[in-house]
Amino acid sequence: MGLRSSIILLPVAVLLSLVGSSFATNSVHNTFVHCLLNHSEPSHPIAAAIFSQNSSSFSSVLQGHIRNLRFNTSTTPKPFLIVTPFHESHVQTTVVCAKRYNFLMKIRSGGHDYEGASYVASQPFFLMDMFNLRSIEIDMESETAWVQAGATLGELYYRIAEKSKTHGFPAGVCPTVGVGGHISGGGYGNLMRKYGTSVDNVVDAQIVDAQGRLLDRRTMGEDLFWAVRGGGGGSFGVILAYKINLVRVPEKVTVFQVGRTLEQNGTDIVYKWQHVAPTIDNNLFIRLILGVVDGTQVAKKTVRANFIALFLGDSESLVSLMKDKFPQLGLKQSDYIETSWLQSVMFWDNIDITTPVEILLERQPQSMKYLKRKSDYVKKPISKEGWEGIWKKMIELEKSVMYFNPYGGRMAEIPSTETPFPHRSGNLWKIQYQANWYEAGEEVAQYHMNLLKELHKYMTPFVSQNPRQTFMCYKDLDLGINHHGFLGYFKGRAYGVQYFTHNFKRLVEIKSKVDPTNFFRTEQSIPVLSYVEFRKLITEKSVLSLLFGLFALHWFRNLK
Ligand SMILES: Cc1cc2nc3c(=O)[nH]c(=O)nc-3n(C[C@H](O)[C@H](O)[C@H](O)COP(=O)(O)OP(=O)(O)OC[C@H]3O[C@@H](n4cnc5c(N)ncnc54)[C@H](O)[C@@H]3O)c2cc1C
Ligand SMILES: *[C@@H]1O[C@H](CO)[C@@H](O)[C@H](O)[C@H]1NC(C)=O
Ligand SMILES: *[C@@H]1O[C@H](CO)[C@@H](O)[C@H](O)[C@H]1NC(C)=O
Ligand SMILES: *[C@@H]1O[C@H](CO)[C@@H](O)[C@H](O)[C@H]1NC(C)=O
Ligand SMILES: *[C@@H]1O[C@H](CO)[C@@H](O)[C@H](O)[C@H]1NC(C)=O
Repeated sequence: MGLRSSIILLPVAVLLSLVGSSFATNSVHNTFVHCLLNHSEPSHPIAAAIFSQNSSSFSSVLQGHIRNLRFNTSTTPKPFLIVTPFHESHVQTTVVCAKRYNFLMKIRSGGHDYEGASYVASQPFFLMDMFNLRSIEIDMESETAWVQAGATLGELYYRIAEKSKTHGFPAGVCPTVGVGGHISGGGYGNLMRKYGTSVDNVVDAQIVDAQGRLLDRRTMGEDLFWAVRGGGGGSFGVILAYKINLVRVPEKVTVFQVGRTLEQNGTDIVYKWQHVAPTIDNNLFIRLILGVVDGTQVAKKTVRANFIALFLGDSESLVSLMKDKFPQLGLKQSDYIETSWLQSVMFWDNIDITTPVEILLERQPQSMKYLKRKSDYVKKPISKEGWEGIWKKMIELEKSVMYFNPYGGRMAEIPSTETPFPHRSGNLWKIQYQANWYEAGEEVAQYHMNLLKELHKYMTPFVSQNPRQTFMCYKDLDLGINHHGFLGYFKGRAYGVQYFTHNFKRLVEIKSKVDPTNFFRTEQSIPVLSYVEFRKLITEKSVLSLLFGLFALHWFRNLK
């Protein structure tokens, strides 16, 4: 990769900018760079990992892992510095120095954050980009692997298959997603009904905490280890690596993808899907994608339901399972495709399965777009009348797409307090609302995001309430943006209970213990609520009245 070679040139660039006139003009940042240089281990100099805005590679490094074009504009706030650690000690040094100067640090692994929260901020910040730390060490004897944060899921799946055709890992469908942000948010994929989420298969972790210490499961303790398995990236430390349990998959798996429009009994089939998909054999995962397409009549739109499935078994077994449990879908023999598990990953990513599997090592996605996502959980089946209304709304809005991912199976067996990820038994499926567009501009963006909000609002009666549950990996800043000021805890509670329900409380307790000064913070990180802070809050009368004032103001604002 070109990036690698440019990194080699870097020490020169950095040192020149330090010696030159920039010294005085940007003294705080330069002091920071000095701190980095001063504190890095002589055996692992950090200079080559530092990119100032003046570096000729600054933009290419920054843009290298932007995965939402909404945040690739000239007005998108840029970091004042990028650090790309290629040794653990670089991460430690960076945390120590950033904390000393109280700099806001954003951490990026694969850059797939839907809100760009890993590389954008409204306040001055610098970026720690983990893409150089991406080794994958697989140990077939113990059926485990150590995976560094900067690796992508595609790289992980490829390396597993290289060692064994009968092992896999239950994580996301998109191969360019980064391990660091994905697992720390509780990422899932199409093995979820059989093996749970990624965090259900994590057995150890290596992190750098707010004091710059390098910790593993034993030294961080079970509380913090619990928190970094789904509590969301950017709250508890820098994830260097996760140790995962590989899971067994058959040498041959079966996939299918078929579409049914409303004109092809779509309503009946979708109605049936919601009863079948969360209860059927754990080896079968059938995702449902709903979108608006042209109908057979001129100028008449319809909804198409796309069913895409992975079955951990051969086609013969799947044929009889479908005949027994879901004949309404009307699959033909030719719909069933037997592949290896690795090829099924490509199939699910819309890549032709005859493509060389090395495509999974590509870090750049096949296509890029502007996007916005929201999510919901469904706990009771929707009536046929309910579906009719949803179709009408979808056709009215036309652009929006919904992805339904069935739960049940292993997901319903794991207690909801086992990991921070709380959405276990009682959930039939998760909705992901998608808006995708391909034109630049704020107005276009607002148009598409408003349509999505409208669909999300329309779905309110059909989805979980009090709290309305959402999925951490599907980050949605509509749930609230935390500036971590005086009311930071309350702000954090608003989105926190939606992402984590009853686990939010424990996350706050752990956060307050391991990072009391809130060094690791993002727009939606876990807030701090320490005893000291709480006392301050209730003993300072002036502060208390200010608090009431602010609440009143907020209340009045909402009244209008
Ligand atoms: C095309 C696409 C497909 C997707 N498919 C799926 C899917 O199938 N299943 C699913 O569950 N999710 C899916 N997602 C969502 C994805 O899991 C999350 O966006 C995830 O957070 C991305 O991880 P990342 O490392 O690529 O992201 P980043 O943008 O790098 O990081 C995401 C968040 O984690 C923090 N973070 C990143 N690295 C670290 C680290 N090393 N230490 C501490 N904090 C860190 C960041 O600061 C940020 O807050 C998809 C997203 C996209 C764009
Ligand atoms: C970059 O260069 C300009 C002048 O060329 C200088 O004013 C500025 O301080 C430099 N910034 C950094 C971060 O080195
Ligand atoms: C770096 O080290 C030098 C010499 O040891 C010292 O003078 C300087 O103050 C240090 N700078 C920082 C930012 O720590
Ligand atoms: C991001 O923006 C830069 C600068 O405008 C552009 O060169 C680059 O192609 C953009 N990236 C993508 C993926 O469109
Ligand atoms: C729709 O369902 C009816 C009755 O259940 C059936 O006769 C018909 O063939 C189905 N149509 C399609 C396109 O599957």
